[in-house]
Formats: sequence, C-alpha cells, structure tokens
Amino acid sequence: MDIGSGPGMFVRHLLDTRPSDFRITACDRSPAMIDAAAGRLTASDPEVCLSVSRIEDLPFDDCSFDVALALGVLEYVDIAQALPEVSRIVRPGGLVIATMLNPASPYRLFEWCIYWPARRLAGRIEGLLGIQPSRPHGARRSGIRAVRRGRLARLMRGAGLTPYDVVAFDITSTVPPFDKLVRRHHRRWRDHPERTVSRGLRGRMGTGYLIAARKAPV
Ligand SMILES: C[S@@+](CC[C@H](N)C(=O)[O-])C[C@H]1O[C@@H](n2cnc3c(N)ncnc32)[C@H](O)[C@@H]1O
Repeated sequence: MDIGSGPGMFVRHLLDTRPSDFRITACDRSPAMIDAAAGRLTASDPEVCLSVSRIEDLPFDDCSFDVALALGVLEYVDIAQALPEVSRIVRPGGLVIATMLNPASPYRLFEWCIYWPARRLAGRIEGLLGIQPSRPHGARRSGIRAVRRGRLARLMRGAGLTPYDVVAFDITSTVPPFDKLVRRHHRRWRDHPERTVSRGLRGRMGTGYLIAARKAPV
C-alpha cells in the first residue's frame, strides 16, 4: 500500500523491479496525482488498485495490507491523526515504512531559517518598490511540518507500531541554493546513491530520514 503515492513513481519502480512480488494499492488525496499514476501503468502490468483517498481516513479494511508506505506525505498531515489509520490497515506483524524531512539537519535549518525568509524578504522589498515579485521571492509557505526522529518514533509507538530501523538519506554538506550547483556537477547522487545514506553519525547531515516499523503481532 503506497499512501500519498503522488504520480506513481514508486509504484512504477516496484512494477519494473519486482514485477510479481506484490499486489499493489496506491492512494493519494489528489485526483490529478492518481490520474498521473494511472498514466504510468501499461496494459501488461499486473493489476494495481488506485484510490483517491486521504491518509486520515483510508477506505480499506482493518489489517488488509502486509506493508504500508508513507513516503514524503507525513509532512503534509497531522501525524498523530494519520499514523493510527496507517496502523489500522496493516496486518499484525506487518511493516510500515515512513519518511520525514530532518528538521535538525544543517540543510533544513539553513533552508527554513535563512534561505526562505531571505527570499520572502526580497519579495516584500520588491513589493515596496512597486516591482512585481519574481516567482521564487513570492513563494507561499509550504505548510510542511517536519518532526525529529525521536518524536516520530514516539508517535509510531502510540499508534501500535514498533520502530526498528532508521536510515538518514540525502546526506549533504551543502545548503540551498548551492546544493543545486553541486548536484549538477557531482555524480554521487546519481552514480552512488548508497553513499548518500547512513545509519550512523553522518546521518545528522541527512536532509531526510526513513523509519521502518512493525505492527505488533497479536
Ligand atoms: C511530496 S509528494 C510524495 C509523493 C510520493 N510518495 C513520492 O515519494 O514520490 C506528497 C504527496 O502526498 C499527497 N498528500 C498530501 N496530503 C495527503 C493526505 N492527507 N492524504 C493522502 N495523500 C496526501 C500529495 O497529494 C502528494 O501527492
């Protein structure tokens, strides 16, 4: 079950790499995303169930999935409300894998405390000078809320899930906007993605992290 599947990139990846290992369901609150996911499927793919639905109110039976993924979606929702619903649809002993932006990484601290406020300030100055703010300067707040791994782990436990692994990803020593330049010339992300993840101290430099958790067996 891929919750908040977006345009179905991961569904496509699973179909391409593990074609007969999973029966896949994907949902997203956005009909446009589900349409895009449908557009990635071909007639020769195994059947994939697609649903426009919200993580807070999933239209699936209790314990109906072995694995639930919530990749890049918890940042947009009330996590305390969403996780019990994710836990509900997973069978006892089943797996929940969730990702979250790392609010304590140097990258995110710089991005949220300096980079975006500076751009918005530039937009306000442009406004005062009667200049139409350029698009990035006029960018609205994203509404993203990120929590640290300890808090996410506690929320998972509260939802009946037991975290057993945490992997930091997208490890970088750059900050925006220089990261774009570095990534363009640096082949690490493309050629050696394994070097951009860590379970150790380097993980503090990861812009995001993944938590794997199990639902308690009955
Ligand atoms: C950053 S995208 C991640 C897409 C995909 N999981 C990936 O990793 O590429 C976040 C997705 O979550 C969806 N989303 C946001 N709030 C949601 C909610 N309450 N229920 C279900 N999906 C939601 C958005 O529509 C968007 O497609």
